[in-house]
Amino acid sequence: MRFASFLTSTSLSATLLAGSAIAQRTTEQQEAQINDPTQECTAYYYQPSASQLYNFPTIWQPASILSNDTDAQAKYQSIQSAIPNIQPKGTQPASLMGDFSGNQYSSSDPDCWWTYDKCITPKISGLPPDVAAAPEPETLGFGFDDGPNCSHNAFYDYLQTKNQKATMFYIGSNVMDWPLEAQRGLADGHEICVHTWSHRYMTSLTNEQAFAELYYTMKAIKLVVGVTPTCWRPPFGDMDDRIRSIAHSLGLTTIVWKYDSNDWQVEAGQATVQQVNQNYQNLINGAKNGTFATSGAIMLTHELNNFTMTEMMTYYDQLKAAFKYIVPVLSSINQTQPYVETNYSAPTFDQYISGTVTTSGSPPNPSTLPGLAPATTGASGAASTGGASSGKNGAMGGMSSNMGAWAVTAALVGGVVRIML
Ligand SMILES: *[C@@H]1O[C@H](CO)[C@@H](O)[C@H](O)[C@H]1NC(C)=O
Ligand SMILES: *[C@@H]1O[C@H](CO)[C@@H](O)[C@H](O)[C@H]1NC(C)=O
Ligand SMILES: *[C@@H]1O[C@H](CO)[C@@H](O)[C@H](O)[C@H]1NC(C)=O
Ligand SMILES: *[C@@H]1O[C@H](CO)[C@@H](O)[C@H](O)[C@H]1NC(C)=O
Ligand SMILES: *[C@@H]1O[C@H](CO)[C@@H](O)[C@H](O)[C@H]1NC(C)=O
Ligand SMILES: *[C@@H]1O[C@H](CO)[C@@H](O)[C@H](O)[C@H]1NC(C)=O
Ligand SMILES: [Zn+2]
Repeated sequence: MRFASFLTSTSLSATLLAGSAIAQRTTEQQEAQINDPTQECTAYYYQPSASQLYNFPTIWQPASILSNDTDAQAKYQSIQSAIPNIQPKGTQPASLMGDFSGNQYSSSDPDCWWTYDKCITPKISGLPPDVAAAPEPETLGFGFDDGPNCSHNAFYDYLQTKNQKATMFYIGSNVMDWPLEAQRGLADGHEICVHTWSHRYMTSLTNEQAFAELYYTMKAIKLVVGVTPTCWRPPFGDMDDRIRSIAHSLGLTTIVWKYDSNDWQVEAGQATVQQVNQNYQNLINGAKNGTFATSGAIMLTHELNNFTMTEMMTYYDQLKAAFKYIVPVLSSINQTQPYVETNYSAPTFDQYISGTVTTSGSPPNPSTLPGLAPATTGASGAASTGGASSGKNGAMGGMSSNMGAWAVTAALVGGVVRIML
């Protein structure tokens, strides 16, 4: 089977247009008030995360443990013996893009490989089953992958007007690119889960890479948002018992889906708008004709681009009318501790639907984050270190040596707006 994935960034083009003038934007509240998508997606410099980039893998590249990161190494050592002896699937690098065609795999699905047959009940004992549906009848477990997207304010504003919380599966590289947008997720009371560092097919990675994809995303969310997630979703759903075991060792509940809107495929030219509309309509029809009378649903939808976000807004009222309840996924399973930090709590299903308790939190005050100097002249700092290459990343400043490569790639494709991974 073959998949292709596109991730895009407008921040580099925005920066090129704006020369080297990278704005310093510093608060979630300020960022949340920007209404113009172009301005939202203009690169900015945010000291608390930009100054820590050297403690993270290169953004948008497959993660591995940094050679001098003794904390990560110790954690990895401590979980290694629990990882089942299952080989990575496919042949790299093709499999990083979802090409598993060279893979020999038994039809008995010994590894509970979701990509093969949507297996969600591990074959290895001691691993919990994946969450693939909201257990409560007539309930939609609501969540969005691939954020935070730089242009998400209209979408988050809409959810606010509906007083609707959702589960947001954030990509670590996006969190580092767009930290104030990540903070809005928490400030708005959404649940934040991990969606890996670089959005690769996890079963194609080595144990160490898979660990690093999760570990550094957790670390990025902790750095930027102040909380450590307890849930994750594999990109493309691609996971087997080896990957589940690594996630489980990191305290992450695995969440997948049974319905796919295919909204993400439109940008890649692999699905039409009409097909995505039909997928939404089928879910709505199912909710109306009793398909979910005894247990609910989760549909894969994305905070990826203007289309995927607009599509949800187009169908939200119909979904709300067809389902009895639309709840964030952790609440749908009564998981009331969304983060490792115990001073946050999420409502149970009953609490959520009765509106008595909502998740909430404040983004961290940058000056209280560990080891960080107060922000000074961020804008000039970014411009002087990286020039255009720093702009690929919304809030990076110029950092790693690979950033130059990004700039070259982007320049070669000319208009820059789309970068294929
Ligand atoms: C790890 O190495 C990087 C660059 O090689 C350096 O900037 C950073 O300070 C080091 N981190 C630690 C925790 O020693
Ligand atoms: C309910 O609607 C779904 C989606 O349109 C359809 O696939 C299913 O067959 C319908 N079921 C019944 C019992 O009508
Ligand atoms: C975020 O959404 C905008 C608007 O559709 C899009 O141009 C941009 O590429 C998206 N960013 C990422 C990283 O996917
Ligand atoms: C989509 O783009 C239009 C035009 O830029 C903008 O007005 C609208 O708010 C965007 N919608 C979403 C959901 O991002
Ligand atoms: C959530 O808690 C409610 C109230 O105790 C209970 O009725 C329901 O079965 C629970 N749901 C799940 C999925 O555990
Ligand atoms: C939880 O505790 C952390 C660390 O002490 C603090 O930064 C954060 O603001 C607290 N959050 C809430 C919602 O109390
Ligand atoms: Zn994704």
